[in-house]
Amino acid sequence: MGNCFCKQKSKSKRKPKPYRMPTSTIGSPISDTHLIIGDILDYRSNDEYRFINGRKFHNVENSKYFLPCDDEEFDRLYSQHYICRNIWQQNYIAPVKERLSFGASHVLDVGCGPGTWLIEMANEFPKSHFTGIDITPVFPRENKSDNTDFMEINILEGLPFEDYSFDYVHMRFLITAFSESDWKFAINELVRVTKVGGIIEIVEDEIEPRNDGPISRLLFDAFLSDLTSRNIDFNICSRMIDLLNGIERLTDIKKEEMSIPFGKWAGRIGTLLANNNAKLFRTFKTRFLSTIGVEDDEYDKLIEAWYEELNEYKPYNVGYRFLATKK
Ligand SMILES: C[S@@+](CC[C@H](N)C(=O)[O-])C[C@H]1O[C@@H](n2cnc3c(N)ncnc32)[C@H](O)[C@@H]1O
Repeated sequence: MGNCFCKQKSKSKRKPKPYRMPTSTIGSPISDTHLIIGDILDYRSNDEYRFINGRKFHNVENSKYFLPCDDEEFDRLYSQHYICRNIWQQNYIAPVKERLSFGASHVLDVGCGPGTWLIEMANEFPKSHFTGIDITPVFPRENKSDNTDFMEINILEGLPFEDYSFDYVHMRFLITAFSESDWKFAINELVRVTKVGGIIEIVEDEIEPRNDGPISRLLFDAFLSDLTSRNIDFNICSRMIDLLNGIERLTDIKKEEMSIPFGKWAGRIGTLLANNNAKLFRTFKTRFLSTIGVEDDEYDKLIEAWYEELNEYKPYNVGYRFLATKK
């Protein structure tokens, strides 16, 4: 396959191991996020945020989303945005250029994070208006351009917008946030707020790599076990088309797939992507130790060995863009 980013069709063969509750789990003290013995809940934790092992997390009751919301995570998200744009050679595939250039169009970005996608789009289309929502106020609150707005909203509580409000609705990388029923609810909300003739674009990468080696399997199986324990539906990409097809008000449903190789062997973007995954492995070190059954320093060595293994097995992820039009 080389290190080109090509459309591909094969299906993942690996199934996640069934989740075994680690014996060291001490429960869900505040939200849905489990603490593991060894996790240190920082004194700075308050109603709004929790600090665990020096990282900052949201503290929204009932939210399954468990990635941090601090500068380190924003760096990871910026890099992920750059990788994604580079791979797809653009920020969107929906046929919206003419409509957004003409102006007076309204765009919604759900789970906008630090707003990188939205700000780039708002600069590209200054005559249209862009609204970003996120469950935590991680987006810019000052020095915003006139055609952007950000709001602190949990989509799972329903979007505070009228039906038929937006011309283009975008949602990217929420795969670690939703259960099966959450996906249904969230997508129905996207459909509800989209105008007739408006377009929805959902962008996700599969979590499980393909073609990977044994160390990769250890690390990703630990990741998948963790997601399973939180009832997160990380297999959504394989069911997304069926889910969209099941919604009466949608038409013109399409999917594009991209093979995304990672590791040093796959050049600069492949290296960045491996670094991105390694950051997640490091973030969840305490959790994964017990699942994998290694000690602290062995875990660090495992990640180093994983980098080497990537060059041998040449794994890749599959990225997806799903499009649908509201009728
Ligand atoms: C992996 S980040 C992706 C950020 C951005 N979409 C991007 O592509 O860079 C996922 C974002 O979704 C947000 N999020 C998670 N659950 C959410 C929910 N229920 N409602 C709104 N935002 C949510 C998180 O706070 C986080 O900023």
